[in-house]
Amino acid sequence: MTEALRALHDCLSAEADLHGSLVPLEPPKSFGQQIMTLVDPVHPVQTLFSLDTLREYLTSSVLTSIDTQRTQPVFGEGNPRASIMLVGEAPGAEEDLTGRPFVGRAGQLLDKMLAAIELTRSEIYIANILKTRPPNNRDPLPEEISAHLPILYRQMSLIQPRFILCLGRIAAQTLLGCSTPLGKLRGQKHPYHGATLLATYHPAALLRNQNWKRPAWEDLKLLRHLAA
Ligand code: URA
Repeated sequence: MTEALRALHDCLSAEADLHGSLVPLEPPKSFGQQIMTLVDPVHPVQTLFSLDTLREYLTSSVLTSIDTQRTQPVFGEGNPRASIMLVGEAPGAEEDLTGRPFVGRAGQLLDKMLAAIELTRSEIYIANILKTRPPNNRDPLPEEISAHLPILYRQMSLIQPRFILCLGRIAAQTLLGCSTPLGKLRGQKHPYHGATLLATYHPAALLRNQNWKRPAWEDLKLLRHLAA
């Protein structure tokens, strides 16, 4: 037996020992493949293979009732090959008017936070859980999140970021599928389908509560350190 054949034989035998019989070895799923298992196999986004076609799908669809009330959908923007993706909650009034994420007061603070860790918007990708502004900026409803989440999952699977930073409780709890308070989710690495997810305070919350600025700064430094 050659060296290579022996190695293969040993590997298959070990697998057989583990499972009691010989089972075919399946190649591990990529991040993008894993993310798309979270979406219904017959959902239309499964057949959209570019960010442009996905954006067109969002623009031309009414996925939940608030979609009929929006000025513009807010798809997301940034570097389509970004290794860092930021995920917010939902557009506000200015985002609804411009069609761009994080352009209001919270967005201006976010730009400063990014600059503090030497990142610009052109290096990262920014998207939201919800692509439509909820009336009066109320929290997104569960059915609205379920209707829009496949778009975000498809964005993730196409961009394939290595790091995902959730801005605020809604984004963190939605992606992690939990109801743990944000204060407990932040400050640590969460394995996420082969990528790493971090959570921090939403910039709008930082505008309201100065006490959260220091922990948010720690979270950003952790992101910078991991993604260096
Ligand atoms: N807040 C968000 O969560 N997203 C935006 O795009 C703007 C404000």
